[in-house]
Amino acid sequence: MISLSIPTPEAMERFGAQLATMLEAGDLIALNGELGAGKTTMTRGLGAALGVRGAVTSPTFVLARTHPRLDGGAPLVHVDAYRLSSPAELDDLDIDYPASIVVVEWAAGMLDGLTDSWLDVTIERPVGGTVGGARIGGAEIDDAGIDDVAEPRAVTITPHGSRWTGLLASGWPAG
Ligand SMILES: Nc1ncnc2c1ncn2[C@@H]1O[C@H](COP(=O)(O)OP(=O)(O)O)[C@@H](O)[C@H]1O
Ligand SMILES: [Mg+2]
Repeated sequence: MISLSIPTPEAMERFGAQLATMLEAGDLIALNGELGAGKTTMTRGLGAALGVRGAVTSPTFVLARTHPRLDGGAPLVHVDAYRLSSPAELDDLDIDYPASIVVVEWAAGMLDGLTDSWLDVTIERPVGGTVGGARIGGAEIDDAGIDDVAEPRAVTITPHGSRWTGLLASGWPAG
């Protein structure tokens, strides 16, 4: 388990971009954290670094969005499992895992039986944070036209399976 503090949305995008450099077809990233934690912000940086076509936005109303890569590499499949109630429903989306890089928001409890190799990334807002004080998600703050306030996020990275434990054996790469 690796713990990082990510101070700003821009730093969260850079974290996603850094993670992207490790990714290849067949990789699965499980994102957890409450509404407004920064899951989509992280995925945006990851997608930009992969050179995907199309903006990475919250896929809340489409369950899964496939972003082809400009370089023809494995596409990014961005899943929002918030409305899914079981791993069987995720399975019904017929995602081509071996040929894709898959990022699942709200992944907790949804990956049972799917794979024994994935990277778990949990993003937490500080307890008693001022923006979070009203427990308003960042997206809703955006909708209200109020400027985003950068607030540190606690990121916990937990590798599952030999590929990820091997890649992260010496911690998170600096830079
Ligand atoms: N350190 C930070 N890391 C990530 N997002 C942050 C941070 N500080 C403030 N924010 C804001 O929090 C919100 C996160 O929203 P989003 O990425 O859509 O969350 P989620 O997908 O987890 O619901 C954005 O408005 C972002 O600008
Ligand atoms: Mg989101």
